[in-house]
Amino acid sequence: MSLEIGWASWGQLLHSVRTGDTAFGHLHGMGYFEYLKQNPEHARIFDEGMTSFVTTNGLAIAAEYDFSAFSMIVDVGGGQGTLIEAILKQNKQPRAIVFDRHDVVEAAKSKLASVGIADRCECIGGDFFISIPSGGDAYLLASILHDWDDERSLTILRNCRRAMSSKAKLLIVEMVIPKGNESFFGKLLDLHMLVNFGGQERTEEEYRNLLSAAGFQISQVVKTSTPSSLIEALPV
Ligand SMILES: C[S@@+](CC[C@H](N)C(=O)[O-])C[C@H]1O[C@@H](n2cnc3c(N)ncnc32)[C@H](O)[C@@H]1O
Repeated sequence: MSLEIGWASWGQLLHSVRTGDTAFGHLHGMGYFEYLKQNPEHARIFDEGMTSFVTTNGLAIAAEYDFSAFSMIVDVGGGQGTLIEAILKQNKQPRAIVFDRHDVVEAAKSKLASVGIADRCECIGGDFFISIPSGGDAYLLASILHDWDDERSLTILRNCRRAMSSKAKLLIVEMVIPKGNESFFGKLLDLHMLVNFGGQERTEEEYRNLLSAAGFQISQVVKTSTPSSLIEALPV
């Protein structure tokens, strides 16, 4: 989060508030992930930042939701594989696929090998706006949907739905915005998503509507000891 290109966008907050467009695009003439693709050093810092974020938040997710009965977890946009590493270490049965951009999964491969779970976790490169690997009984979207507006999020969700059997579960990890006016870290992150990615944090009702439009129904929302919740949804 402290990556300079991320906080520089805050200086152009007014542009985003006036237009609804990203300050990042206004400054750099391209989207955030396209910029990372063209700037490997920034990509490295971003990936390390996400890894550090997931190390605290992800461990709580791995401990506070029961992943033990799954056979194959597809971690869509799984980054460096830090969350799936925590899940696989706590649960001996599941195998996993980390699916992310080609350049990202190359780094994930060596990381997963170095922590001793490469034999249970395959890394596949691709584009979640085009298609997502099939064969999982759980599809994990951790800090993915908040990067995108509703239209782009729906494309990702529909691609998940297409890849899933009717019995598979969708697991979304995000900071669900609570009702009311109390302080909550997700509200600050909501603005960070606006200026940098054109994304947003969402309320439970907003997730319910988005998921319904993609052919899913929420089965439970698991709050954790961190600001992140896990939304479990089933195909309808
Ligand atoms: C905010 S990070 C979340 C990473 C990981 N899920 C976590 O919780 O740390 C978003 C991830 O989406 C990936 N991503 C962005 N665009 C993508 C695309 N079109 N196809 C696949 N992955 C993509 C990024 O490379 C990045 O790893």
